[in-house]
Amino acid sequence: MNLRDLKHIWNQRYDVAFSQLEKLKDINLVATAFNTNIDAIYKITGKQLEKLIIENGFSLSEIKDISISQFRTPKDVVLGIVKCFSKGIAEEWIAEDKEVYDWLNNNIGYQRLQMGGQAGIIANVLALLKIKKVIAHTNSHPKLQAEQFLDLDNLFSFDADGKLVNSKKLERPNDIPLIHWIIEFDKGDSFTIEGQTFTCPKSNRFIATYDPMNMNLVMNNGFVSFMEKDNGIQYLLLSGFNPLLEKNNGVSLIKNTTILLEKWKSANPNMIVHLEVASTQDKVVRKAIAKELAPFAHSIGLNERETIDLLEVLDQDELASKTEKETNAINLFDALLYLMKTLKPQRIQLHMFGLYITIQDKNFKYTPSQNINGMITASVVSSSKAYNGELTQYDHLTLAQGIGVSDIGLNELNSLATKICKPELLENGVCEYEDFLISAVPTILVEKPKTLVGMGDTISSVSLLAGI
Ligand code: GLC
Repeated sequence: MNLRDLKHIWNQRYDVAFSQLEKLKDINLVATAFNTNIDAIYKITGKQLEKLIIENGFSLSEIKDISISQFRTPKDVVLGIVKCFSKGIAEEWIAEDKEVYDWLNNNIGYQRLQMGGQAGIIANVLALLKIKKVIAHTNSHPKLQAEQFLDLDNLFSFDADGKLVNSKKLERPNDIPLIHWIIEFDKGDSFTIEGQTFTCPKSNRFIATYDPMNMNLVMNNGFVSFMEKDNGIQYLLLSGFNPLLEKNNGVSLIKNTTILLEKWKSANPNMIVHLEVASTQDKVVRKAIAKELAPFAHSIGLNERETIDLLEVLDQDELASKTEKETNAINLFDALLYLMKTLKPQRIQLHMFGLYITIQDKNFKYTPSQNINGMITASVVSSSKAYNGELTQYDHLTLAQGIGVSDIGLNELNSLATKICKPELLENGVCEYEDFLISAVPTILVEKPKTLVGMGDTISSVSLLAGI
């Protein structure tokens, strides 16, 4: 079948998003944890970055092939941006020192504030999708945090007395605002230093985080006691381990969380736990996420980078470097299979550029065709976010419907289906492989995304729930 016909089939399949959006309204209760914060967004141009490099006295040799992934001094913010800009990648560096926060405030500033953190971003989008009740964990809830929640009457957090209160109206006045810097840049933009030009290959972002609460995985008591009772929670969307550091007790914080999760799961036996991996620079923490935490999740969500990062800490250096060199669906599929067999969730989902792939075992609640419906809905919702820059009204959710699936995604799907000899994967999006059920969906790609932060969180949560 030629690309045009294939595209036509997939584009028609995308109509299902509308009925899935209706079905989402039947879900009763969902909780999101742990990280909710405020994102300060700054879109940087190549020219502005060039100026920062020069002003801060970095030479060409210092900005070429940057390998560090953490701050030594506040000025290293510049190196973080250069690294991500020139490779078109996403990284988040964690600052232990408030000086980094001050440096960002004084030297970069921001253009707007928005909801940040997996738990916060997911809570807003799920509430907008009209899930009956969404409960967002917040370890800090000052007025500025409350302002980042959508004004929806199905969205709740806990007050200082452990009472559920509408998240937008709740204010815990003694709490501090947790602000993370998100520096976004555009594909094709460039800067020149000492005659050498660096061009950004892919729109992406660098995150600089100074957040004493999320770095210590401080938990809200009201939320913890709520989860310990059987309240009929259907899904727990879990993340927020990315800001932990080994030297800051990160591994024991993760181990303690698994004890809680055990309790929560036995109180709510029908609850599906999804772990969103998120970009985690500290390798010891990353390994603990894989080894200690992942076994408690039914479902795992990750992107290309996070997949490679997990391979690295699971001693799969060869597969990691092969996938890093050629980050395509074929190598990533091998990586996912490895993770599925090693971490043993019921389901693992990759959201790569242009394509989503889910591998599940035969016990997972939803069938592969339900997963396809979920992934299609996620593609529509997340590309609508990229297209519009925000999802704040119900009619924003489908703004990108009709753009059509990307050639990039179809070509990736084609090469994967050919490699594993499963032509049905290309046309129908489903196949069996070894003992697993596979589903895959080519996605909509927005030409000039207005924003990218929170895309993965949106994709993973929507595709899981919209599999209903
Ligand atoms: C990380 C960052 C947070 C951002 C989120 C987006 O959790 O700390 O600031 O909003 O990723 O996915």
